[in-house]
Amino acid sequence: MPVETIAWEGSHVRMIDQTLLPGAKVEIEIRTVPEMVEAIQSLRIRGAPALGIAGALGLVAALTPHRDDPPNTFRERFDEYAGALEVARPTAVNLKWAIDRMRQVADQHREMATQALWERLEQEALEILDEDREMCRKIGESAQQVILENAGILTHCNAGGLATSGYGTALACAYVAHEQGKNVRVFADETRPLLQGSRLTTWELMESGVDVTLICDDMTAATMAKGDVDMVIVGADRIAANGDTANKIGTYGVAILAKEHGIPFYVAAPRTTFDFDTPTGAGIPIEERASEEVTHGFGPTTAPAGVKVYSPAFDVTPARYVAGFFTDAGFLEPPYETSLNALRS
Ligand code: MRU
Repeated sequence: MPVETIAWEGSHVRMIDQTLLPGAKVEIEIRTVPEMVEAIQSLRIRGAPALGIAGALGLVAALTPHRDDPPNTFRERFDEYAGALEVARPTAVNLKWAIDRMRQVADQHREMATQALWERLEQEALEILDEDREMCRKIGESAQQVILENAGILTHCNAGGLATSGYGTALACAYVAHEQGKNVRVFADETRPLLQGSRLTTWELMESGVDVTLICDDMTAATMAKGDVDMVIVGADRIAANGDTANKIGTYGVAILAKEHGIPFYVAAPRTTFDFDTPTGAGIPIEERASEEVTHGFGPTTAPAGVKVYSPAFDVTPARYVAGFFTDAGFLEPPYETSLNALRS
């Protein structure tokens, strides 16, 4: 595993504060819902699968002091905490998926004594964490049939170990290829405004010894035109039933550029990122972020005070741009109306 992003410590959550990377690798402890909501909203923890894990573990951590409460009081706390966590960020469906799964467990065991129910919830959250690690591995393996020796892989944002409990999704494809001695070369888009590609993707690939080259977002077309990119692989925050894919802002532009250059554009994601209740990308809620993230970035002000800013955190790439999905159920190709059924449970 490239890095341990998030872990359970028996009563609280330990995780890397990703806002401080790559300058410092600092771990923080989370014990309450306000602490976890703040960590999620400020992107100390981020990436769709990691958000699901954080939601589930954060819920158990917050319930730890309530293990001796009467069942009714415990359930009231559960509902309050689950409700606050599931809306901390709106686009990645994994967060709501994980909280729904915890809620199902609480519903199924309404009669259980409080301590026993807390232990059952702890077990469920740890299963979510373990299953994610397994899914990452399978995603990486499903991509190997299309990743050739010396392949140049362009990725956007960070869909790596830092966004999951394992190998990542898009980066799992590169990690498994690297393990198999394929000598792949990764191009990491910087990913304005919060620089997940520059700060996180390059950091974890370098830690793992995978060849990586950083480019600014506006260098993507030139890098493709030069012939260095054989494929694009990105992660996803939510994939609608028809294959429309929400991912970090800028992904849609990368997909259009890939099409223009005849480069296949792939999406890597676990089944927990597919939302069959949302028919098309038009139904995916897109988070908007504070203007300061654009105007101030990581240093001095880069825009006039008071300028109007539009800052969507994600965009939707229509399914017609996606050459295939690397998933824990294998490599799924069009037509998605039928192939995505492999992921329905
Ligand atoms: O705003 P972020 O950093 O949470 O956005 C993350 C992404 O867009 C990732 O590509 C996506 O969540 C997939 S992570 C495996």
